[in-house]
Amino acid sequence: MSKLIFVSNRLPVTVKKTEDALRYSESIGGLATGLKSYHEQGSSLWAGWPGIAHEELRPDEAEAMERELRNEYKCLPVSLTAADIEQYYHGFCNETIWPLFHYFTSHTEYSAETWEAYRRVNERFFEALDPVIGDEDTIWIHDYQLMLLPQLIREKYPDAKIGFFLHIPFPSFEIFRLLIWREEILQGLMGANLIGFHTYDYVRHFVNSVRRILGVEHHLYKMNQDTHSVRVEAFPMGIDYDYFTASREADKLSPELQSFTENAQTVRNILSIDRLDYTKGIPDRIKAFKRFLTDYPEYREKVRLNLIVAPSRVEVESYDKLKRQIEVLVSEVNGQFGTANWMPVWFFFRTFSQEDLIAFYRSSDVLLVTPLRDGMNLVAKEYIASRTDLQGMLVLSETAGAASELFEAVIVNANDHGAIASGLKTALDMPEDEKTEKNRAMHRRLARYDVHFWADKFITALGQADSGHQPSK
Ligand code: G6P
Repeated sequence: MSKLIFVSNRLPVTVKKTEDALRYSESIGGLATGLKSYHEQGSSLWAGWPGIAHEELRPDEAEAMERELRNEYKCLPVSLTAADIEQYYHGFCNETIWPLFHYFTSHTEYSAETWEAYRRVNERFFEALDPVIGDEDTIWIHDYQLMLLPQLIREKYPDAKIGFFLHIPFPSFEIFRLLIWREEILQGLMGANLIGFHTYDYVRHFVNSVRRILGVEHHLYKMNQDTHSVRVEAFPMGIDYDYFTASREADKLSPELQSFTENAQTVRNILSIDRLDYTKGIPDRIKAFKRFLTDYPEYREKVRLNLIVAPSRVEVESYDKLKRQIEVLVSEVNGQFGTANWMPVWFFFRTFSQEDLIAFYRSSDVLLVTPLRDGMNLVAKEYIASRTDLQGMLVLSETAGAASELFEAVIVNANDHGAIASGLKTALDMPEDEKTEKNRAMHRRLARYDVHFWADKFITALGQADSGHQPSK
């Protein structure tokens, strides 16, 4: 029987070793949280790294983990050594591709050693998958960590249906051309039958780079290769709408969040939630909040910014620096504006359960999401959906992929502190009926184009793609 195999660097489950046992927890980030519900409801297999170094596990523990992941989570772990994690994950993935594709050229490192590790680990993924791939299977590879994998699979399985989806932006040619290994990356991706991006801008950037670098032209976003043809299309990722709109019992919340939601309405709450990442524009957001308190003093003691930052990639130097920068900025705002009865910014450097996050969404008047660059940003969509009373308002930067779908939100330039400050005021002051109208339009879109629609559409398009052995035209 044919099966669907998802492949991503990180599994939706992260394994940690404590003194006495292995602990399994939900992974964070748009890819894992977005795709998880689709995976849970279907009969797919998901291959990826469980988040722990190979050396940390004894052979019996590795076996037990494999069994648990396979039986409980339908996951196939791909093991990475501490050296792989250092050079491939922290190195090439997060010091080269991630910053470059998000237009942070000055953060981008070029190292032959980490590139070699990237190739080696993509091959390792292929070796882990090889024994489970059947002739009729559909293989859907996700994200920037595995861009060589489509071609590696194609070489051994010329007739396979291979899809690839990039969860981050694909940059313009002028940025992409800076990459030393640009040709190898494009050739790796061109092993797929279908390549998906969140927006049409990323599609256009990609076909432009393929034309300029590989000399391959597209005809209606289809490109012929010797063995197959490659289709490129935009598939904006959605959320599990029914999950976020479902009514909830307060007793599912942690006691901490129960008392938070009970007391939340003493002030108007502005919420900010991200993984720790310099692409998210967190320092600019705090500066913009400071500007808001300066420009509109009537809001002092009446609003609070709940700033949630989930720890991520802290071993990479630029992430660690960012954390310290955020701490300094938060304490500056609190020091300058705080009173005996009021602290303007509540800063949480930790993760919360999905249920607790929904409670935050529901008790927040405004969600402030201002990434400098973001492939999509599902948090923005989750917030809108969770506010079933249609009374929340989103302030969103135009450089998030989600801005091309959520245009009823208050849209701002992430670098413009004055515009963010006045956008916040607009959102806080918006009349109820205007909020209802805007949110209703966004709800309709989020309900129709949910994560199931997204995955089904991609898989259907992949099913229709020409597989294998097309004569080149
Ligand atoms: C983004 C990426 C994902 C990644 C996630 C979390 O959403 O697109 O591929 O898994 O961030 O980052 P991490 O490095 O912890 O996997």
